[in-house]
Amino acid sequence: MNYKEFFPYFANSKTIYLDSGATSQKPKAVIDELDNYYLKNCASVHRSSFGDANVVTRGYENTRKLLGEFIGGATKEEIIFTKGATESLNLLATSFGFDIKTIIISSLEHHSNIVPWHMQGRTIGAGLEVVECGKNLEFDYEHLEELLKKNPKSLVSLTHISNAFGVMHDIKRISKIVHKYDSWLCVDGAQSLAHIKVDVKDLACDFFIISAHKTFGPTGLGAIYIKKELLEKMKPYQGGGASIASVSYEKSVFLPSPYKFEAGTPNIAAVLAFSKSLEFLQKISFSKIEKIENKLYAYLYKSLEKIEGIIMYNDANAFGARSFNIEGISHDDIGILLDKQQIAVRVGHHCCMPIMEKLGIKGTIRVSLSFYNDKDDIDKFIKALKKALSMLKG
Ligand code: ALA
Repeated sequence: MNYKEFFPYFANSKTIYLDSGATSQKPKAVIDELDNYYLKNCASVHRSSFGDANVVTRGYENTRKLLGEFIGGATKEEIIFTKGATESLNLLATSFGFDIKTIIISSLEHHSNIVPWHMQGRTIGAGLEVVECGKNLEFDYEHLEELLKKNPKSLVSLTHISNAFGVMHDIKRISKIVHKYDSWLCVDGAQSLAHIKVDVKDLACDFFIISAHKTFGPTGLGAIYIKKELLEKMKPYQGGGASIASVSYEKSVFLPSPYKFEAGTPNIAAVLAFSKSLEFLQKISFSKIEKIENKLYAYLYKSLEKIEGIIMYNDANAFGARSFNIEGISHDDIGILLDKQQIAVRVGHHCCMPIMEKLGIKGTIRVSLSFYNDKDDIDKFIKALKKALSMLKG
């Protein structure tokens, strides 16, 4: 089965697209739904009560329901739409993390799970702790336990799959440790939801971060799952229309979740269209997606291994991304020559400067595959890489 045919981008571009970690391509059904909203049903949600407004409000709430089911049976109040994974993490930091004494992150975090904590004045030794990783970039469970012993009632906020290296954290194992110390666990699923079956109940996390555009949906949309028990305690981090039950000059009374967190007119078109991504993925099934991608990453690893001077940072198991360097050659130069051959990869620090610094590098070349890629894409990439290397070495 060639899944490229469901994605109009591939009919319109000759680029070998290996940058799905930055953003995924969109299925036709998603693009059609965006068009449909702007061409036929353009109206606001949760405000007006005429025909089209009611249609889009129902559609908007239907996506929330679908997304809740998609991540393992979250209820509607537990799903809050945001403008992206970054906003979701900022919401977490501002509405929940601000009065938690210690925040624990891992050494593989994206800047979006570091900068919001710095903005609260937290740094190493002053409210922010970092779990180290091993030689193969694996999570150090003992270090986490040590940190939690010293700092019970912490918020542990970790990536599920590292965007820079494709390393997956064992969240079930981590959540057992976290909850032993009366702490809370946020899982940043920006890079996992498009690649593996996620079940927030099974993972036993308290928060789960979602990016729509990395999950075959439109840009400008994300979400955060917040466990029901925590919703009351959390204050909205921004205020405005549609989030309140009543307003007087004396006070504002907020609506219950999810509305208290969704002030202002949301990205309606994106929410409606995201339902199509979720339906599309459900039809294909994650068992199929995982099988395809595991095979592709194994093939990529084998092909890269044969390249002279290759440096990889983790073992053959990669999910959603594989990063590498070539001894003595700048990743930026390789990126430029790959681009000239219409190969789309990301080069640089991938918004993960601390781990790059720890590894003593400025960045990597990252290949980020999805189930719409195939062996032919990898062969073309390897051929182009060899050509780039012969030019740079020669
Ligand atoms: N976080 C995205 C990436 O890894 C943008 O490319």
